[in-house]
Amino acid sequence: MALDLARLRAETPGCAHVLHLNAAGSSLPSRRTLDATLDHLRLEAEIGGYEAAAKADDELEGFYPAAARLVGAASDEIAFVENATRAWDLAFYSLDFKPGDRILTCRSEYSSNYISYLQVAKKTGAEIVVVPDDKHGQIDLGALDRAIDKRTRLVSISHVPTQGGLVQPAEAVGKIANDAGILYLLDACQSVGQLPVDVRKIGCDFLSVTGRKYLRGPRGTGFLYAKRATTARIEPIFLDNHAAKWTADSAYTVRDDARRFENWERYFAGVIGLKVATDQANELGMEAIWARLRELADGLRARLSTLKGITLTDLGKVRGAIVTFAVAGADHPALRDALRRQAINVSVSTQFSSRLDLKGRGLRDVMRASVHVYNTEAELDRFVEALAAAYSAA
Ligand SMILES: Cc1ncc(COP(=O)(O)O)c(C=O)c1O
Repeated sequence: MALDLARLRAETPGCAHVLHLNAAGSSLPSRRTLDATLDHLRLEAEIGGYEAAAKADDELEGFYPAAARLVGAASDEIAFVENATRAWDLAFYSLDFKPGDRILTCRSEYSSNYISYLQVAKKTGAEIVVVPDDKHGQIDLGALDRAIDKRTRLVSISHVPTQGGLVQPAEAVGKIANDAGILYLLDACQSVGQLPVDVRKIGCDFLSVTGRKYLRGPRGTGFLYAKRATTARIEPIFLDNHAAKWTADSAYTVRDDARRFENWERYFAGVIGLKVATDQANELGMEAIWARLRELADGLRARLSTLKGITLTDLGKVRGAIVTFAVAGADHPALRDALRRQAINVSVSTQFSSRLDLKGRGLRDVMRASVHVYNTEAELDRFVEALAAAYSAA
């Protein structure tokens, strides 16, 4: 079903202030999400934080089935975490790597994940194997299959990278990992909320998600999906009195659900805000959201391709809502700042975020314009006009 654009915009307070093309950074939340978050903060101030949590217990507990429904999981496979990086870390650092264990990843991998591979490789003697891209710029599935051997411990990739429209073939990667009986960790920070994600179809053991990007939740929120059968055999790197019970002076037992990856204290207003944002994604339907985002992003690519001096830099067979491009001779950060002065928000992706990919393609940085459901075709026209004016004026 098509989305009701006028209603979506009316329910998004930010639309009155900015032309926001930075969903891949942090998108504009709806009024419902904003109000739910603020209401809980107010309640905490009025009656006390613990008392507010007790009163809001149904909403707080409601986060788990909402997140589970969004990604096709069960409620007890979801842990609330403060962002995608920590969600990912909790899974990755809980694995017990041994010298010679191999971690298979892709060229477009996110920098924080890659830094973690490097740290674990340094500490444990594990090896990082970067699988090459195919001719479309996505992970080469044949090369991935061939790279798997007896020492391979983990396949770990980002579903959608921070620096472009590429959508990795997560399901095909999952089939290869599952057939070989290898753990599969999927960074879904940019994909959940953007496109339909079903953990059972993908076959991942862990999936990390952030709240503030395509889910339109509050900052400082996210979640981890941890497959039940996998969780049972992996003890989290961190334990506290929420994740485990102190059962005797010298003994403890770990919770048997995914909340063993959580800790006790959290941003309660954020859990409620993320629950509401997740409900909204479920209500709109991920198929409808994905169809509209592709329509907008393809429309933006088409508009940009008519401008002189612009090179589109998105890779992949399937391209999503993140549109990246290079402007010949322009200083991209200065261009971003010039647009921001006109209340047009875009960002710049640099090698800081994805060194192997951008460096390998000879790109120091790229402009990134990332659409969401509240954007309109008229906004895309206005953006392209302002961009052309800004770089011809430079
Ligand atoms: C692909 C990818 N993974 C992970 C992250 C980190 O997410 P967070 O900032 O929520 O920890 C980002 C952030 O841009 C990202 O684009």
